[in-house]
Amino acid sequence: MQRFVLLLVLAVTLALRGNLAAAQTTFSSVHPIFQAKCGSCHVSGGSGGFNIGHPNPNSAYFQSQLASYYSPGNTKGYASLVRILDGSMPVASGCTGDPTADAGNPACLTAAEQALITAWINDGQLGPITPSATPFCPGDGSLVPCPCGNSGATGSGCANSVFAAGGLLASTGTPRVSADTIVLTATNLSGSTCVFFQGDAQQAPVVVDDGLGCVTGSVVRIGTKFLTGGTGTYPEPGDLQLSVRGAVPPVGGTRYYQCFYRNASLAFCPPSTSNRTNGMRLVWAP
Ligand code: HEC
Repeated sequence: MQRFVLLLVLAVTLALRGNLAAAQTTFSSVHPIFQAKCGSCHVSGGSGGFNIGHPNPNSAYFQSQLASYYSPGNTKGYASLVRILDGSMPVASGCTGDPTADAGNPACLTAAEQALITAWINDGQLGPITPSATPFCPGDGSLVPCPCGNSGATGSGCANSVFAAGGLLASTGTPRVSADTIVLTATNLSGSTCVFFQGDAQQAPVVVDDGLGCVTGSVVRIGTKFLTGGTGTYPEPGDLQLSVRGAVPPVGGTRYYQCFYRNASLAFCPPSTSNRTNGMRLVWAP
């Protein structure tokens, strides 16, 4: 019985960890703070040879992981928090490290900035996120066969009755929560509408109606879009940005997208009347 309870506690702890992992604070969240508040000195050949304000996030992160002389046994990133809190950094700026006392002095860190750096340390000083957009889950026969031999063109979803190439989901822009320029475009679709949807997990492709489904986890319906010439787009003017609509947290994370559409022809791949594009995986930076 005791062992069972222990296992249960372990399982719940791991499950919670899994959830939290999606919202952990990476260096991408704190880099802008170091650039703004420390960059005037710590940028190149910087004070104490410490370039945490370097504009390249990977270079700045590398610096943050070097051994500190101020806080022996810890990283310079950790020492940064120590020095912010003890008021010794930023140098000669009149900061005490207490955000209340320092209020109104733009050189000093706010409580929110201190909290973000503390979260980064507590989460294990994770490296920066490189935003990326990568297609996945093609219905071109390379992963699993489409349900009635209706393979699409390389990289596309399974074929539909109008477009033998199959529905193709593509994206333009950069997935950044703080500066979201992403536009999703689905082309070669049959029917009059398509539904863009987002999941926070991917699964091995499974047959769904005439196509393949690879998006799972916590699924959000992003929007139903009218097609023009077989093409649907999100966002259109007046729509929320994708990251807002999909509630991607400020710290970023990986999300998966597909578009679902109608294929009314019963003669094509019976008995179902819907299909899906390939998937798109977006790694959202803060
Ligand atoms: C006006 C210039 C200036 C600014 C701004 C500044 N620093 Fe420094 N920093 C220095 C100098 C000079 C040294 C080396 C002497 C020392 O350690 O006190 C230093 C050293 C350090 C060290 C010691 C490195 C080690 O290996 O332990 C850390 C950590 C540090 N700074 C963090 C920061 C952080 C974080 C900020 C921004 C919140 C910041 N500094 C802003 C000038 C500055």
